[in-house]
Amino acid sequence: MIAPVVSVAAEAAPPQLGLPTIRFATPADDRFVEDLQAIAFGPGRFARTAYRVRERFPIDPTLSLIAEVNGQPCGSVWMTPISVGGIDGYMLGPLATHPDFRKRGAGKLLAREVSRIALERGEGSFVLLVGDRDYYCPLGWVPTIPGAVVWPGPVDPTRVLCYSQVPTMAARLAGPIKAFGAKKRS
Ligand SMILES: CC(C)(COP(=O)(O)OP(=O)(O)OC[C@H]1O[C@@H](n2cnc3c(N)ncnc32)[C@H](O)[C@@H]1OP(=O)(O)O)[C@@H](O)C(=O)NCCC(=O)NCCS
Repeated sequence: MIAPVVSVAAEAAPPQLGLPTIRFATPADDRFVEDLQAIAFGPGRFARTAYRVRERFPIDPTLSLIAEVNGQPCGSVWMTPISVGGIDGYMLGPLATHPDFRKRGAGKLLAREVSRIALERGEGSFVLLVGDRDYYCPLGWVPTIPGAVVWPGPVDPTRVLCYSQVPTMAARLAGPIKAFGAKKRS
């Protein structure tokens, strides 16, 4: 099955010019994504706190996107449904672009599109991540209150960023990361 293209880089452009396009991942992409994450994050990826979140709460495979250039997979992003303080949302990551295809807009396109698609479902209302402000804040992520979100391991609290259509969301997120829908079950 050929997955449909979801989006093309904003400044964009016919893919024949080498700009990235985005499509949903299929099981046939699993090997590419595994290899890409190994290249991008190295063996230390298994020790990352975000990895611990994904061990507890599975990623949503229907929110797994692939970036391609000229039909060649070059980037990937995953989303993990979570809740914080009774509010449902998503944790974004890992986000990675193959070193041969960086600085073409694939990473930002993946982050933007997976967040748009997830929030448009209307089930979760934020996208949380641990990342560099210089990269994510121009895309709309804002800092959370340092230390307010409780992770299952060490994180730099100044790197915990939130994207939401609700302007006050970043200030409201507080408490441990729990399963998506935890409020309704407790
Ligand atoms: C971060 C990453 C996904 C960016 O992928 P990409 O496809 O090159 O991203 P884009 O093309 O959309 O953006 C590139 C721009 O972001 C900048 N950039 C890349 N990483 C950055 C960072 N950590 N902080 C600030 N800016 C960054 C680049 O310098 C470039 O700037 P320019 O457009 O002015 O030249 C990629 O470098 C990667 O896979 N890195 C290793 C894994 C990683 O760190 N993932 C993010 C975890 S939060």
